[in-house]
Amino acid sequence: MLQGRRVLLCVTGGVAAYKSAYLARRLVEAGATVRVEMTESALEFVGAQTFAAITGEHPFTALFAADLVSPHTELARWADLVIVAPATGATIGRVANGISEDLVSATIIATTVPVLLAPAMHTEMWEHPATERNLETLRGFGYHIIGPEIGALAGGDSGMGRVAEPEEIVVAAGDILGGEGKGQKVLVTAGGTREPVDPVRYLGNRSSGKMGHAIADAAIRRGYDVTLVTTADLPTHPAAKLIRVETAEEMLAAVAGVEPHVAIMAAAVADFRPKSAAESKIPRADGLPSIELTETPDILASVVQRHPRPFTVGFAAETGGVERAVEKARKKDVDLLVYNDVTEPGSGFGTDTNRVVLIDRSGDTEELPLLAKSEVAERLLDRVAAAIGEQG
Ligand code: CTP
Repeated sequence: MLQGRRVLLCVTGGVAAYKSAYLARRLVEAGATVRVEMTESALEFVGAQTFAAITGEHPFTALFAADLVSPHTELARWADLVIVAPATGATIGRVANGISEDLVSATIIATTVPVLLAPAMHTEMWEHPATERNLETLRGFGYHIIGPEIGALAGGDSGMGRVAEPEEIVVAAGDILGGEGKGQKVLVTAGGTREPVDPVRYLGNRSSGKMGHAIADAAIRRGYDVTLVTTADLPTHPAAKLIRVETAEEMLAAVAGVEPHVAIMAAAVADFRPKSAAESKIPRADGLPSIELTETPDILASVVQRHPRPFTVGFAAETGGVERAVEKARKKDVDLLVYNDVTEPGSGFGTDTNRVVLIDRSGDTEELPLLAKSEVAERLLDRVAAAIGEQG
């Protein structure tokens, strides 16, 4: 479950920090991309270079680092999972009380992805009512806690408070990232197709691919096995199987090779293409060319006609009212249609936000407010998961 996933490992200051080097190694072996944050105290126990050598990237050690403008928020957003190992009483206390005074506590407070804490401390500290209360608070926030265990502690002591073993942490991380999508394949199409006129020119549209890529990203985070067929040159989650295409024909061929449980057809596919593309650039001197058009294949139709058919989500970027979209949902025979009016401000092509209406098979509509495309993706996947759950 960790293959291709982005794990942010936060190392705080306890002797157990040395075990986190091994944890980092195990995470890398499991296929995760690992970045590391270290507190100042952690650096007293292990060198940053150790983690750099294991992960291939230098750890982040300060809130105000030169290499990122805002390391805590950027890393908080980058990660699919944050692991804090070891998690000292001090870090646990800071986060439980919302105190974001160092890179690690600020990142944990800034992130919206799952957080797994592996506490480690002396038995007396572990048994202090403040620790107990803080952990209760963290559980209430929905954080996952693993360990501690009974064993050898710093300074030759032994008792409750030893950090969970790296192998156990790796298993827990996999379980958390397993998510609702475990074992389910999702196909996402994204971007606008480009239909060549000649080697230089094409017929295209304004779709940026941002919505489809946001859906693929969100689906990966939920543990789906994602294939993204896209025309867009946008950053893509490393865990997604990426198939880059240009034309509707190429998109059809790529889609034909995928057997998903869920198909989310966010691409803006050209309805017409030049019947034949000129082999060399059409010179201006030849005068106005006439370009004969022909139909492109209906990729969505090819998916809904399958037996068994996947749960299919269509998109309708319209300039008309929602009534037309309700009719389109029925005609296209989709399980869910995502309608948006591209003429509305902040909605549609190229923007980072979208205001959509979700239309189901019975024609019922759910109007979502203007949201970041990443949030639209989450809401859409909530609906897909709920509908699949109902279907059993
Ligand atoms: N679609 C497709 N293949 C096509 C055209 C569209 O798979 N050749 C999919 C899109 O990805 C989208 C849905 O069909 O999910 C609706 O696209 P849209 O362009 O709105 O549908 P059209 O049938 O082309 O409707 P219109 O007449 O409004 O252009």
